[in-house]
Amino acid sequence: MVVWSPLRFKCGLEIANRFVIAPLTTNSSHEDGTATDSELAFVRRRAASGFAATISSAAYVEEDGRSWRSIGATHDGHLLRLRALAEAMRAAGGLAVLQIYDGGRIAIPEIIGENRMRAASAIPSLRPGSNTPRAMTSDEVEGLVASFGRAASLARQAGFDGVEIHGANHYAVHQFFSPRANQRTDSWGGTLAKRMNFPIAVARAVRDALGPTLIAGFRITPFEAEQEGYKLDDAKRLCDELAGLGLDYISISLDNYRLSRPTGEARVYNAPFEQTYTATESPITALSRVIGGRCAVMASGGIKTAADAEGAIELGADVVAIGRAVVVDPEWIAKVRGKAEASIIPGLPSDETTIAETLSIPPPMVKYLLSRPGWIPRLS
Ligand SMILES: Cc1cc2nc3c(=O)[nH]c(=O)nc-3n(C[C@H](O)[C@H](O)[C@H](O)COP(=O)(O)O)c2cc1C
Repeated sequence: MVVWSPLRFKCGLEIANRFVIAPLTTNSSHEDGTATDSELAFVRRRAASGFAATISSAAYVEEDGRSWRSIGATHDGHLLRLRALAEAMRAAGGLAVLQIYDGGRIAIPEIIGENRMRAASAIPSLRPGSNTPRAMTSDEVEGLVASFGRAASLARQAGFDGVEIHGANHYAVHQFFSPRANQRTDSWGGTLAKRMNFPIAVARAVRDALGPTLIAGFRITPFEAEQEGYKLDDAKRLCDELAGLGLDYISISLDNYRLSRPTGEARVYNAPFEQTYTATESPITALSRVIGGRCAVMASGGIKTAADAEGAIELGADVVAIGRAVVVDPEWIAKVRGKAEASIIPGLPSDETTIAETLSIPPPMVKYLLSRPGWIPRLS
């Protein structure tokens, strides 16, 4: 099976199989952006079960862009715990990739402080209860690009094997690409070509900071839920540009790898998008065709079995990222590899303390998981 075969990235680093742990924010880091012991335990136990690589929870690149109680990569003071995190991620010899992000207009005022939210334009998210951000000056936009570069440089110093830019799921990089969220009139907004400038600048800054021998990845949402959002054709244009920048992989973030429409975000925004948007092709197939082997393609969303992983690979992916399945069952990959899929834990137990203790999940993450009904399967 392809899923158990190795893959060499463009930078020369190799993964032993095609399974990686998806970025999973635990919402439980220390206030100063350092990882807690329970976060390290969460990661170590899962990485130890045999994944080829782990992508970290998203690390903020600027204080004012924090969307959760997450780890940070903004200054030398973060290095010590980033190093510990990279070591935990290598528990079974897999590669360690740091995901880096900025929240833009979906940063959280309770974390960053009132009136500190800044974004591409002064347009609030459609998420219920969203505040209106302040539009960034062009100097601030350049500063944010540099902050992504600085975070990548810290990742390199902390011993990570690479960095993934969080360009998906409605965070700042995605917002700059969105015609809804970005209505700037300078070189960072307006036409599709100008809206690509921020993601491209961030990708260049990260590649420059890492040098050619470490992994540089970019995570993308293939289409936006809103009617005025970007479409799969726009994402194809961006992937075409990104694939020419010497990245090692592009990761396609989906709620369900089999679907060609955005169920997850449509659920969040409750938009009438599903009635108006008619993608007929798998976004994995469409984007991997555009990428054309210039870098690897990673796919995620609802992969729960080896057959699902093979299915995503048949659609065009090279690597699959596993999220909720490994949250619920830390030994998921060992069971898949041992052909013991029937013994995979199908859902979280009912009691919060049992979840935290038996599954090594930090208690604030347990609360976060249970706060969104239907997000994570539960045992009855
Ligand atoms: C608890 C939790 C935290 C997540 N945190 C991140 C994150 O920090 N960065 C990111 O890109 N995606 C994040 N995601 C999305 C996952 O990486 C993944 O794309 C999504 O859960 C769909 O894949 P799955 O069906 O295998 O879970 C998170 C998902 C969950 C369940």
